[in-house]
Amino acid sequence: MRSEIAPVGIIATGSYTPPRVLTNFDLEKMVDTSDEWIRTRTGIEQRRIADPGVATSDLALAAARAALQQAGLAPTDLDLIIVATVTPDTFFPCTAAILQHALGAAGATAFDLLVGCTGFIYGLAVAREMIGTGAYHRALVTGAETLSKITDWQDRSTCVLFGDAAGSAIMAPVPEGRGVLSYSLGNDGTSADALTIPAGGSRLPASAETVANRLHYLQMEGPEVFKFAVRAMVESSVDAVSRAGLAMADIDVVIPHQANLRIMDAAAKRLHLPSERFVRNVDRYGNTSAASIPLALDEALAAGRIHPGDCVMLSSFGAGLSWGTMVIRW
Ligand code: ACO
Repeated sequence: MRSEIAPVGIIATGSYTPPRVLTNFDLEKMVDTSDEWIRTRTGIEQRRIADPGVATSDLALAAARAALQQAGLAPTDLDLIIVATVTPDTFFPCTAAILQHALGAAGATAFDLLVGCTGFIYGLAVAREMIGTGAYHRALVTGAETLSKITDWQDRSTCVLFGDAAGSAIMAPVPEGRGVLSYSLGNDGTSADALTIPAGGSRLPASAETVANRLHYLQMEGPEVFKFAVRAMVESSVDAVSRAGLAMADIDVVIPHQANLRIMDAAAKRLHLPSERFVRNVDRYGNTSAASIPLALDEALAAGRIHPGDCVMLSSFGAGLSWGTMVIRW
């Protein structure tokens, strides 16, 4: 292992969304809401929903295969697999182990990260350090979620927001001056209750009562998370850009967590960045938690929005409450 961190970057991406579309008009028939309310408050028009029996690792497998194909690598070329998710197939084994087996990536070290919507950026940071030291060579970092399975479809304040997806990135050594330039990660547990699944863990194990009280579904204090989200994205972006030795104006493309169009607009305004530099696909997929950034990144690359040499900033916030921003020279 080296004592200095060698440059590490993303060499390929892939993504997958389940085919079933749930529109705002479909939701109008399920809860007391309207397409107009959802569009104006969030920017979301539709989301994808996994069928019954489809688990997070199934989505992750499709995204991982797409990334490997783009990289021209075989599963056995991977020595590290990290899955960021809040909707693992099971509490244990970890979803990364299930993915490792399904891919045929025998021998790869595999583990999950549970940091809400910020998990994918945490995964990139961990992989960057593990490869940069020379301990590992090629990592698959995947953000994958089936949020529809933990959504309370009777709660209009949350069920209109979320969707299912997976996105993957392959990380490997890159030439000097390229790859991850900096990151800024953090957590503030004082507001942990603002975004949580109350039951099913060791604090409140599953019982007939917890099920009857709908405590296995995601609960969120929307307005509190909203205020935190804007502040966290702005502060961690400023910190990451300064750690990279850059100015905010040097950022060519921003891939923000796709939770809410108003959050992205507020962050763009406070960062004094033109909103055209922000990649958005929340209208088509809703909030897909840890999958949101790799999905948007994969789409931005496929659309030719990112060029070699561009400075790309990934920025997210989520359960914890957590935040994370990473600056990458493409
Ligand atoms: N349809 C119609 N009305 C609704 C709906 C709905 N789906 N949901 C709430 N309302 C009502 C409320 O009951 C409230 O009515 P009232 O004024 O009569 O009490 C009114 O709309 C306003 O509700 P607010 O919650 O104040 O609406 P707000 O403008 O804050 O928007 C939202 C809510 C969209 C949830 C916003 O707060 C938000 O985006 N928060 C951040 C959420 C987020 O990003 N979470 C993800 C973080 S991490 C992760 O993904 C796991």
